[in-house]
Amino acid sequence: MEPHPRDPGRAAWLLPCLLLLVLPGVGAQAVQNFSLQQPQTKVSVAAGEKIILNCTISGFAEPGPVRWLKGWDSGNKTIYDQKSKEPSPRVTRAVPGSGTDFTIHIEKAQPADMGTYYCVKFVKSDGLTSVDKVFQRGNGTEVSVEAQPSPPLLSGPEQRAEPEQPVSFNCTTGGFFPKTIGVKWFKDKDPMVAQQPQVTEGGVKTYNMSSTVMVTLQKADVRSQLICEVQHSTLQEPLRERYQLSRVLRVPPSLEVRAEPSLVEVNKTVTFTCLVKEFYPADVSVSWLENEIGIKVENVSQPLELSQGLYELKSQVEVQATEEKNGSMITCMVVHDSQAPASKSAFLWISNPGQGGLSKGFQMDKGDMVIYIVVGVVCTVLALLVAAILYLIRTKQIKGKSSPSARLHEPEKSSEATTQESDPNNLTYADLNFERERKTIRRMVEMSQQSEYACIQTNQAPNGDDNLTYADLDMVHLSKAPKRPAPRPEEASSEYASVQITRK
Ligand SMILES: *[C@@H]1O[C@H](CO)[C@@H](O)[C@H](O)[C@H]1NC(C)=O
Ligand SMILES: *[C@@H]1O[C@H](CO)[C@@H](O)[C@H](O)[C@H]1NC(C)=O
Ligand SMILES: *[C@@H]1O[C@H](CO)[C@@H](O)[C@H](O)[C@H]1NC(C)=O
Ligand SMILES: *[C@@H]1O[C@H](CO)[C@@H](O)[C@H](O)[C@H]1NC(C)=O
Ligand SMILES: *[C@@H]1O[C@H](CO)[C@@H](O)[C@H](O)[C@H]1NC(C)=O
Ligand SMILES: *[C@@H]1O[C@H](CO)[C@@H](O)[C@H](O)[C@H]1NC(C)=O
Ligand SMILES: *[C@@H]1O[C@H](CO)[C@@H](O)[C@H](O)[C@H]1NC(C)=O
Repeated sequence: MEPHPRDPGRAAWLLPCLLLLVLPGVGAQAVQNFSLQQPQTKVSVAAGEKIILNCTISGFAEPGPVRWLKGWDSGNKTIYDQKSKEPSPRVTRAVPGSGTDFTIHIEKAQPADMGTYYCVKFVKSDGLTSVDKVFQRGNGTEVSVEAQPSPPLLSGPEQRAEPEQPVSFNCTTGGFFPKTIGVKWFKDKDPMVAQQPQVTEGGVKTYNMSSTVMVTLQKADVRSQLICEVQHSTLQEPLRERYQLSRVLRVPPSLEVRAEPSLVEVNKTVTFTCLVKEFYPADVSVSWLENEIGIKVENVSQPLELSQGLYELKSQVEVQATEEKNGSMITCMVVHDSQAPASKSAFLWISNPGQGGLSKGFQMDKGDMVIYIVVGVVCTVLALLVAAILYLIRTKQIKGKSSPSARLHEPEKSSEATTQESDPNNLTYADLNFERERKTIRRMVEMSQQSEYACIQTNQAPNGDDNLTYADLDMVHLSKAPKRPAPRPEEASSEYASVQITRK
């Protein structure tokens, strides 16, 4: 390394030069009459268009290149270099080769081109270092690239949804700048209430947007469409995306099965009609079962489109009403849109040859049938209970009647003493009166005065007093009241045992 030259004249010249480096632009005009003009403070272009950055210089300066830098300090990037042999393909000079006009064009602006650009005059570093020194710079031009949002995408649920089911739809767009964006939703022509759109950074200096709306589907939505409308400062007309709700709607059919006629004579045919009503989409298959065994059907009609966009289908099957088919269950089974099958049944009823139209054909669900079975079982149990009770009462009565010794009387029939009946078959019996009501003190008093009797009569007394006739008076207390005359006049051949009883 060579020793530094100790020339005081040269050192004196260096001092203002170092000052210039520290305070670029200040005093340059005064000392060197050099001027750099970067007149634009802000430039805004649409993405894809050309960015024009103006810069002119005047006056004299030391040799050194003019460059365009994007950004300052750390992170600066040289966009254009006067001395560079390989300029960036998108950057061109407005006046190629000019020594004063350093205006550049940047083609096909991208959002990534956004930033502040500086036009800088460098000077050679005087051999001390190889790095050029900044001599003067412009005030900087802030470039913004306005980017249009991409065409919106509208997405719905993965699977079809049924009416009354709320489903969410999503509208997204991206790559736009500036950040401010508006989203509107419509169902056909009606504005909808949607959540606030979510705006996120989608890349370098661009934004993405996502907006969600909840829709409760209706039967009538087959022909409806959703519209997502995006408004942005870069757009002259809002962007719209449409979505046919029929893409996600499933309306399950309602079923009806009819037997024609409802009551048929034997060996005639019955036509069963299955009406598959108001469904969407048209994808449906109908099959028939007779007592859960499939029937072959040759006449399968095509779904018919209704005015609302829903479909309807009619399927018919003819069944020969042979005697053994009486009470057969004919079922129409429908598989719609790959869902679990739904079914509805009707019965085949054959009228009795004599009495036509006593029973009536009717339809029922499986649900209905369960109800009928339950009601039937309950009724049977009740009937059995009633029968059992009646039987018990009856056996009790018979027992009372057939007993040779005692018969119970209701208290109101004849509360007084003993009744006695003559029996043509010469049966001997006792007729006992019992007080069956609940005991009260008053009644106890009455009862002590009223006596109850067991009267035993016999007609057979050939051997005189040796014949024993007795009544089994279990549970009965005999009173010690004096004998009373029998309530009825005695017959010549009768013998009596008059027994008076009181209750406990
Ligand atoms: C640059 O900025 C300085 C002060 O900030 C101002 O005095 C000067 O006029 C500006 N030059 C241009 C070309 O706008
Ligand atoms: C920028 O430079 C171009 C080309 O030299 C010129 O036509 C244009 O008028 C300049 N614009 C401004 C704002 O100085
Ligand atoms: C530009 O960045 C480099 C390092 O990447 C730095 O050395 C240089 O001083 C910077 N220039 C300016 C003008 O900020
Ligand atoms: C932003 O949206 C674009 C499509 O418009 C997509 O390619 C990109 O991945 C999104 N960026 C983020 C961060 O979601
Ligand atoms: C119904 O048809 C069967 C056989 O086809 C026959 O045996 C039967 O007699 C017929 N019954 C009546 C009531 O016609
Ligand atoms: C199917 O039924 C329709 C009436 O529902 C009838 O007009 C048509 O002839 C039948 N087709 C066949 C092949 O039986
Ligand atoms: C068919 O069944 C119903 C109900 O069980 C009955 O009323 C009717 O008499 C039966 N018909 C014939 C032909 O057996």
